[in-house]
Amino acid sequence: MTDAFSKCRLPREAEALLASSLYPFYLPVEGRPGDGEVTVGGRRVLMAGSNDYLALSDDPRVKAAGAEAVHRLGAGNSGSRVLNGTLALHERLEGELAEFLGHEAAMVVSTGYQASLTLCPLFGPDDVLLADQYVHASLLDAARLGQARLRRYRHNDMTHLARLLEVADPGQGAIVLTEGMFSVGGDLCDLPGIAKLAAVHDARVVIDSAHDAGLLGAGGRGAGEHHGLQSAVDVQTITFSKCFGTLGGAVTGPRHVIDYLRHSARAALFSASLPAACTAAALTSLGIVRTEPERRQRVLAAAEHLRSGLVALGFAIPSGGTPTVSLVVGDNELCCRFWSGLLDEGILANAMLPPSVPGGKAQIRVSITAAHTEAQVDRLLSAIATVTGRVGPIACQE
Ligand SMILES: Cc1ncc(COP(=O)(O)O)c(C=O)c1O
Repeated sequence: MTDAFSKCRLPREAEALLASSLYPFYLPVEGRPGDGEVTVGGRRVLMAGSNDYLALSDDPRVKAAGAEAVHRLGAGNSGSRVLNGTLALHERLEGELAEFLGHEAAMVVSTGYQASLTLCPLFGPDDVLLADQYVHASLLDAARLGQARLRRYRHNDMTHLARLLEVADPGQGAIVLTEGMFSVGGDLCDLPGIAKLAAVHDARVVIDSAHDAGLLGAGGRGAGEHHGLQSAVDVQTITFSKCFGTLGGAVTGPRHVIDYLRHSARAALFSASLPAACTAAALTSLGIVRTEPERRQRVLAAAEHLRSGLVALGFAIPSGGTPTVSLVVGDNELCCRFWSGLLDEGILANAMLPPSVPGGKAQIRVSITAAHTEAQVDRLLSAIATVTGRVGPIACQE
């Protein structure tokens, strides 16, 4: 027999990258001195790759809530929600989340990835699932585990979505699946277009609000509220690892749907529940999201500053106003050189290589948070200008 491990080899390009100083992954953070900066390689750098948009992971109230919960309820629950792992704290968070998002019920799970997989039983054999081309890997994994026929429409292309809905079997159920704010590009879904088509075709709308819940809309409810269409969102998933500054996730929607998922979603049924520390931290963050709109106003104003600065540097930046922007470099090696150049300039950004992005579309993803000052955003812009000058113009520069 051949060795089953013989496949465990990286492509040659990846091997070369791994051995070089350009390798952009698994860089250990040694400390978090605060002010939107971290320590790596013994040096303080600006964190420009985090999704902690409201800077709540470092909020003293959120940290204190987590620490208090560990003391009171322990470091873990050692069981799944369905058996021995449900805390009264989970139920409180579910009640508050459902009320916040205007849904009947919520189900708290242990990560945002798990929240996506929890959707799997919704994608049944008699359904067609229409997913935006750029939905997150976790949603594609849920689709692959599910039994519905998967059709993907071109990114935010409502003509394409309409065509797929028109040719779908009217005897089947239809679900449109999108992200609220897209994780790599930072642009928003065309919810007005999706809602209109869903109403015409009796389709259900499922939105992954991993990046937009807490950030967008007057009350922080996400892309639905931002578009004035929260009531058009049938099911919403969120994660606590971004705006909520901790770990965990949730699915919200009609009570019968959430009850069904609670009893059929294997990803949650067969996995341990969210520890008390993260649950208490998420509850505290939710309170802050509800009562301190100035935090999202601050980061959105900084995002405008970042975006206009990038446009002034000649980058083609799609409108959208969110704190995440991707600079499409194109070539993988060039992207790694760009990433490494930024690190030399004291900036830690994200290098997004295939399969996270389509082949030939390697990109540098930068994101800022409420902890960053205008002076830090200027530092980021100046580093991008310097590195562009050094490695040469990149694909999305005019
Ligand atoms: C759109 C989207 N959904 C789900 C997830 C998974 O969330 P988590 O990292 O909290 O598991 C992510 C994480 O990056 C994401 O961007």
